[in-house]
Amino acid sequence: MLTMLPQLTIGTADLAAAFLFMYGLKRMSSPVTAPSGIFVAGIGMLVAVLASFLYAFDVDAAARPFLVQNIGLAVIALGIGGGAAWLAGKRVAMTAMPQMVAIYNGMGGGAAGAIAAVELFGNKTHGATQLVVTLLGALIGAVSMSGSIIAWAKLDGELKRPMRFPGQQIFNGVAMLATLAVGGYLVAISLTAGTPSEPVLICVFFACALIVGILMTLPIGGADMPVVISIYNAFTGLAVGLEGFTLQNPALMIAGMVVGAAGLLLTLLMARAMNRSVSNVLFTNFGEAPKHTRGAIKGSLKPTEAADAGIFMRYAGSVIIVPGYGLAVAQGQQKLYEFVKLLQGSGVSVKFAIHPVAGRMPGQMDVLLAEAGVPYDMIFQLEDINDAFATTDVALVIGANDVVNPAARTDKSSPIFGMPILNADKAKQVYVVKRGEGKGYAGIVNALFYADNCDMVYGDAEAVLVKMIEAVRGLGLSAAA
Ligand code: TAP
Repeated sequence: MLTMLPQLTIGTADLAAAFLFMYGLKRMSSPVTAPSGIFVAGIGMLVAVLASFLYAFDVDAAARPFLVQNIGLAVIALGIGGGAAWLAGKRVAMTAMPQMVAIYNGMGGGAAGAIAAVELFGNKTHGATQLVVTLLGALIGAVSMSGSIIAWAKLDGELKRPMRFPGQQIFNGVAMLATLAVGGYLVAISLTAGTPSEPVLICVFFACALIVGILMTLPIGGADMPVVISIYNAFTGLAVGLEGFTLQNPALMIAGMVVGAAGLLLTLLMARAMNRSVSNVLFTNFGEAPKHTRGAIKGSLKPTEAADAGIFMRYAGSVIIVPGYGLAVAQGQQKLYEFVKLLQGSGVSVKFAIHPVAGRMPGQMDVLLAEAGVPYDMIFQLEDINDAFATTDVALVIGANDVVNPAARTDKSSPIFGMPILNADKAKQVYVVKRGEGKGYAGIVNALFYADNCDMVYGDAEAVLVKMIEAVRGLGLSAAA
């Protein structure tokens, strides 16, 4: 039994940590407050981790001789894990962020699974409810871990193609049922015989759960991975919450539920912004680029020089910029803002229009623009700016494709039909910056590029922006103020 003081301290620290997690999450809802939100949630995690050392006062007699050694090991593990995460966080490129989220999410699922393993192998669960909750947490955590690792491998290019075979869904269903059967058998043994659980069966249970996670993720196309990661994020939260129940640790329970709920909401928001259901993401092949041709699209692609487009914008009254995945690939955000400042200096009104699923992860464009120092009051979300395109001189679509594809409005056969898009095609003049005729994430042709009011500026986004800047500067100081 914990003595009164450590128990009170742990309870207070857990409460404080839970409050900090939720307050941090609240602040993450706006790009202006998000950095401080991440900091606040990080402090919450630090409080929870430090408080967990107070459980050292509660070890049973058999473990007491190993106390110092175990605390040492925990400190070393924290040092290695924290140090590696710090370094990786500092070095990661913005475009590699989804991979990083995937792998850390997998670690969270693995941690939940590890807690369950300690409880199960050590026969520490009391009663059927606790055993079932522990097994459920183990299952969900292990699925999230192995699934997230596959998601990471796909996003990182280690696994190039989705692996599919006939009858795969049925096969996966059978694997899931087998895992549940092993779990059920473990509960039955414990209830009937009341004997310690079978270590071999526990190993089989974990192995099955890990295989289910792999099987579930292998057939999904690489481009759908951000949604899948978000689903696994919800899984990890749920697994952590369930293991928190097993350990009777309120901080774990609350943190797990907050992560689970946030992951679920994010998944639903992403799916809605793409006009797809979650089951459609999990069980169809959308992420695979379909063979899609120009079909009935009329018009032609009209290439133009970056310098001409830049000078045209310099003399325009208003410009709306639509950034997309290609801008993140090119890392052209600094040059883009440099160009924007030149336009503004010449009296041009400039705004940014952000589609909720532009790029490859939620908020990627907001973060990218924030990185370049673009003020938040220049950045508008789809619903706040879409009507403005019709009265705007120029829409500059830079590294974006699907989010401005008019097929979403009109073509019922299109995989993006029904997805809300940015009305760039309604502007008087559209410039699209991209390297060539590469398709977007949905793998479909974009009718906007063939429209009469649209010109293509071919090249890497950053290189094109450098040319635009040079051209506007070349007009002389008075022109570009
Ligand atoms: P995409 O439709 O993927 O189009 C990106 C375009 O950028 C490509 O057509 C490519 O054409 C161009 N590009 C690539 N590298 C470039 C570079 N270095 N310089 C200039 N252009 C470059 O991007 P989007 O419009 O942002 O749409 C996002 C898509 O991802 C949506 O379909 C969305 O549903 C999906 N998605 C988003 C998320 C989240 S949460 N954001 C999650 C999952 C899926 P070239 O090859 O010709 O250059």
